[in-house]
Amino acid sequence: MKYLIFNWKNYVSSEAQARLLLNLYPNFFPHRVVVAPSVVWFFLLKKKNFLFASQDGPVIKEGALTGDLSPSIYRHFKIKYVIIGHSERRNFHQETDGLINQKIKTSLALGLIPILCVGENKKQRQSGLTKKIIKQQIEKDLKGLKTIPHLIVAYEPIWAIYPGQPDKPADSLLAIKYLRTILKRYKIGDLKIIYGGSVNSKNILDFLKYPEVEGVLIGKAGTLPQEVKKIKLKVANNKIK
Ligand code: PGA
Repeated sequence: MKYLIFNWKNYVSSEAQARLLLNLYPNFFPHRVVVAPSVVWFFLLKKKNFLFASQDGPVIKEGALTGDLSPSIYRHFKIKYVIIGHSERRNFHQETDGLINQKIKTSLALGLIPILCVGENKKQRQSGLTKKIIKQQIEKDLKGLKTIPHLIVAYEPIWAIYPGQPDKPADSLLAIKYLRTILKRYKIGDLKIIYGGSVNSKNILDFLKYPEVEGVLIGKAGTLPQEVKKIKLKVANNKIK
């Protein structure tokens, strides 16, 4: 069973599109589907039989925080997962590893499952710095955490995110294997490592065919109904478990 995590980002801007997509997601049997819509579409999630993520994590458990979600909102909408440290938050909102670390700690304290995104930029990849960068990110983002019940780490090379070009599956496999080695230092009850960056119906199986790639984080393609249908057919008609 692989994770198929659909990150809508801010692509879905009408209720009709949101409803249409939500109706397309169930039954990616035997895989686990997690959907991360914008907050405005949370009200549509009730009674849906798949899992939900927030596109960002909470900084503090309780208290005044303009623009953030309260723990009761997570509970109310049965949000189980939180994407933390996405490169778009790191780059456009100047989120630091320190803040990301705090969000991970708060999320774990609230019983949420972090989906931690790490990855290098194009220049760093070209200079052979991928391992160094993702190691630094992991060490800073998980600082002070020895025991983690449940964690998903998404390897997302920044340059591969749509409209960039997807990573070569064999290269992302190397990064994912490396991540698994460095994550051995932590006591993680349930760890999954997945790939993200321009995954679509044409290339999804090239990533998922590796047992080490335990899922994918899908942005743009997961908001296009025709693509979602094709992705579903691809994974359903394949022996990948
Ligand atoms: P993409 O987004 O599939 O549109 O590249 C993936 C992500 O950034 O989560």
